[in-house]
Amino acid sequence: ATIQINGQNSKKISNMLTGVFFEDINYAADGGLYAELIQNRDFEYSLHDKKGRDEKWNSSMAWSGSFRIEKENPIHANNPNYAIIKNGSITNSGFDGIALKANEKYDFSVFAKGTKAIVRLKMSSGETLAEATFAPTNSWKKFNLVLKPSKTVNDAHFEINTNGETSVDMVSLFPQKTFKNHKNGLRADLAETIADMQPKFVRFPGGCVAHGDGLHNIYQWKNTIGPLESRVPMRNIWGYHQSMGLGYFEYFQFCEDLGAEAVPVLAAGVPCQNSSDGGSGQQFGIPMQDMDEYVQDVLDLIEYANGSVNTVWGKKRAEAGHPKPFNLKYVGIGNEDLISDVFEERYRMIVKAVQKKYPEILIIGTVGPFFEGTDYREGWKIADDLKLPLVDEHYYQSPGWFINNQDFYDIYDRSKSKVYLGEYASWGNKFYNALSEALYLTGIERNGDVVSMASYAPLLAREKHTQWNPDLIYFNGNEVKPTVNYFVQKLYGKNSGDIYMERNIKASDNDEVNKRIGIAVVKESTSGDLIVKLVNVLPVTVKPSIEMSNIMIAENASYTVLTGNPENTDARPVSQTITVREAFSKELPPYSFTVIRIKTK
Ligand code: AHR
Repeated sequence: ATIQINGQNSKKISNMLTGVFFEDINYAADGGLYAELIQNRDFEYSLHDKKGRDEKWNSSMAWSGSFRIEKENPIHANNPNYAIIKNGSITNSGFDGIALKANEKYDFSVFAKGTKAIVRLKMSSGETLAEATFAPTNSWKKFNLVLKPSKTVNDAHFEINTNGETSVDMVSLFPQKTFKNHKNGLRADLAETIADMQPKFVRFPGGCVAHGDGLHNIYQWKNTIGPLESRVPMRNIWGYHQSMGLGYFEYFQFCEDLGAEAVPVLAAGVPCQNSSDGGSGQQFGIPMQDMDEYVQDVLDLIEYANGSVNTVWGKKRAEAGHPKPFNLKYVGIGNEDLISDVFEERYRMIVKAVQKKYPEILIIGTVGPFFEGTDYREGWKIADDLKLPLVDEHYYQSPGWFINNQDFYDIYDRSKSKVYLGEYASWGNKFYNALSEALYLTGIERNGDVVSMASYAPLLAREKHTQWNPDLIYFNGNEVKPTVNYFVQKLYGKNSGDIYMERNIKASDNDEVNKRIGIAVVKESTSGDLIVKLVNVLPVTVKPSIEMSNIMIAENASYTVLTGNPENTDARPVSQTITVREAFSKELPPYSFTVIRIKTK
């Protein structure tokens, strides 16, 4: 096959095609990206956190020892429970044990009153790795201490011991080394793995977490900011507890640290598929008499992100330590909702209010899920009518679907809303799945004039707490395990462009063969680099010739290949420097994804 690239034949495409979808699913937040090591630090776990009744899921979850839970005179009304330790110890097992590194510093903090107490980090054998003392009085006071464990262990536990009666709440242990070293920060290894993908945006807090599974489970951003003890914890739609320690301030800060656009997604005034709290099957939305307040919450979020310090919500951002605006540009309204009258009435109200007050904000609407039986087009009709700049599409499909539908966006009307492909994945973490995604993404780059953004979903999954497979990055307390799908995303993230170079190619007379070869050529304006992506989903080597005209290229190029057994999960990219000319040829190994990055003059 010959691939002809003519420098004069190109079009502008979005430079935001690779981003991340962050949802608190699979313990992605508490016990995941949020670096807190104590589980249930506020004693607010509740029987309602889990669907069905699980008796152990209560305010003592992850704690054991000589204590009782009290509610009288709490440190904050939003955090009613605390523990009273009497003549003995209270122990926390973290999230499946606490992973500690020798000689690193850990910030311990606690609200306490009563008798003097000793805090210890201990090995499962009982050996103490670090200890310190705090001496409370009769009224609640916050204590901060630093602990430095003497050994590296993955299954330590944490203990507070008293010879009298000590009340404790918000018992917290954070590594000092967090991502960018923020207090109340993010787990460095996980955040760095995400940063390495060079995502252009971060969507949060979901997914279904954004709209919840009942009116009382709709994610309320205002409950997630301010002092940690005043935040309102909530049952997670995925059947566990959200402490809200990772809240909207931390999300915005993470986006800023990554140099990525923040894409908050807010419920469209309806819970997941317009579900009711009692699960009656009747469709529900926020009652119309409460919608003005909800719409105001959405507007207030924009003020929180962008307003000056003299505004009510901008001032709260400043109080949290960020007087400068976060420069929010996007807001998503709705997540995969059932497109019904209940939905539409509320969705239109919210969208119109944002359009009126903040015409500069790019609203991402929802068009519902892409399943059989759902009317995808209804969502598009509303988006057309509201003249939305973008809509969010979601699909999870087989690798075969991705291979057969590379032309999905070729026929999209360029005059309508642009697409944010907010959730997609092929069903699996084998190399074949990752290759089908790499192939599909060549089609996304080709259609980068109508597709503006795309994010693989879900992003994170903690081992032993995974509700949804496949995911992009698995982890446990001390290890991060990126999947082969992650390496595809990373190669796209690091090699994105903003100009698509039309290319002429015909690999074979057989369409089935053609379908299994994906080619996209983009240019990154800032560096001038030309990036050729070549995907071979055939079991044989393919040797295309690449011919470039009207482009002045330098001879040295970086050449990265990801190849392996399609049934395995262990393929990893290998890079080297090669020499290229205006016409050159390169073998594409069977089942491979190749990226050639060429400097231009
Ligand atoms: O990504 C997992 C879930 O899939 C999301 O929460 C939801 O939007 C979709 O159904």
